[in-house]
Order: sequence, then structure tokens, then C-alpha cells
Amino acid sequence: MKGMILAGGLATRLRPLTLVTNKHLLPVYDKPMIYYPIEAMRNAGIREVLISTSGDHAGGFANLLGSGDEFGMRFYYAVQKNAKGGIADAITLAREFAANDKLLVVLGDNIFNFNLRSSVENFEKRLTGAKIFGVKMPTESRQYGVIEIGDNGQVLSIEEKPEYPKSDIAQTGIYMYDNRVFDFISQLSPSARDELEVTDLNNFYVKEGSMDCEIIDWWIDAGTSHDELLKAGNMVADKIGSGDLYQEKT
Ligand code: G1P
Repeated sequence: MKGMILAGGLATRLRPLTLVTNKHLLPVYDKPMIYYPIEAMRNAGIREVLISTSGDHAGGFANLLGSGDEFGMRFYYAVQKNAKGGIADAITLAREFAANDKLLVVLGDNIFNFNLRSSVENFEKRLTGAKIFGVKMPTESRQYGVIEIGDNGQVLSIEEKPEYPKSDIAQTGIYMYDNRVFDFISQLSPSARDELEVTDLNNFYVKEGSMDCEIIDWWIDAGTSHDELLKAGNMVADKIGSGDLYQEKT
């Protein structure tokens, strides 16, 4: 299984911090934000990771992260021309990189302390399908994709920022896909906000009954606002200190 970290976008919600700096290079406690998804991949046993970013910031990532040797990993870089294309549009950049492998996608501003290793191992055994990760958000789920889960644990629906959420489970930015993901993306049309939505993509799998969901404990989308960015730094400091956020418990 290969990994992809999405680190593009305009990050207008974090201006003026992001006027000249890419959001994913901003500090979260004692590390640049993108270190967290990288460590999540490493602790999941993923070694080859494609990092997608916008052209004007690609040099910063290459300078910071290089070949991946220091992480014991191998990094590849892709440039997303259309910064406003959306998550599903960015994933298409991984088509050749993924080749025939499955793909773990993590949004570069997502901070969480869930070790993905056993989920990755189980997913690798599956022939087809996809998996998403949800988090309980009793009051704020409508700001995200909202996941409805049936009694048997199967995903029944995912709605993007619904006015009336069907559950309190928000869709995080952690996704696992089989190799058909690129064909599904090619069938998508832009949404009302003119993006190829990851929720529309995920609903292809929901419709065929092959979408699983795992609930994780805590998760922050540090790119949502200045307050969430601050909260992410404080959470990391409180819960983890300067250790490796995703180290497996022994
Ligand atoms: C995107 C997805 C949404 C998901 C969120 C997680 O939202 O569309 O379903 O809950 O990421 O961070 P966006 O940040 O593009 O508004």
C-alpha cells in the first residue's frame, strides 16, 4: 500500500499566516504541520509517500523533507495546478504512483493519534473497497462530511456539510482506497463550490456497499481556523509532548 499526503490549497482561512507560507509548513507545537501525517504514514508501515502541493510552494517541501531518507521513507512530489480543484482532483495525481497498489490518503493538516497500522494491514487483505475514519463531534459535525452508519457497522450515507446532520460522526481526512479510485474520480462532476468532492467519491463505494468506517478518538483539522491551529498545538503539547505522535504502544 502506498501513501499520499495532500498539502496544496490556498488556506485562505489562515491568512495572513498563509500569505507567503504554505499552511502545512506552519508550526504545530514543535514541528511543521506536515510532519504529523508523515509520522502517521511511517507508523502505519507505509514507506513510499507522494506529497502533492502547489507549484509555488513545492521548493519549500523539497528543502524541508528531501528524499525521505531522514524519515526512513521515500518521498515523491506532485504539483497540483488547480489549487481549488478539491481533494478528489488532487488524488488523481497519484494514478501512476499508485500503479496497482492500494492508496492511503491523509490530508496534510490532519492531526490525530490513532495508529493506522492494523487498519492498513487489514485493508491490504481486502480485494476491493474503501475505508474512512470518523470522529464523534456532537455539536460541530455539520462543518464536515457527516457519516451515517447502520447497525451492522456499514456506512449508509455520507453528506457534505449538511444542514441537518444524520449523525454526530464527522468524516476525517484519512481515506483508504482500492485501485478503482481513479476511475470513480473520472466520473465526478464539480460540486456547488466548484470542487471534485471527496464525499462524492466516497459515495461510489457507499453505493456498492464496500465502504467501512472506523471511529477514532481525537482528531483535529488544524487548517480550519486560527483557533483550531492553536488547539492542535496545545493538544499535541498536552497529550504527547515532543515524542513521536503515532508511536505504537508497547
Ligand atoms: C473536507 C471534506 C470533508 C471532511 C473534511 C475533513 O472538507 O470535504 O468531508 O470532513 O475535509 O477535514 P474541506 O476542508 O474541504 O471543507
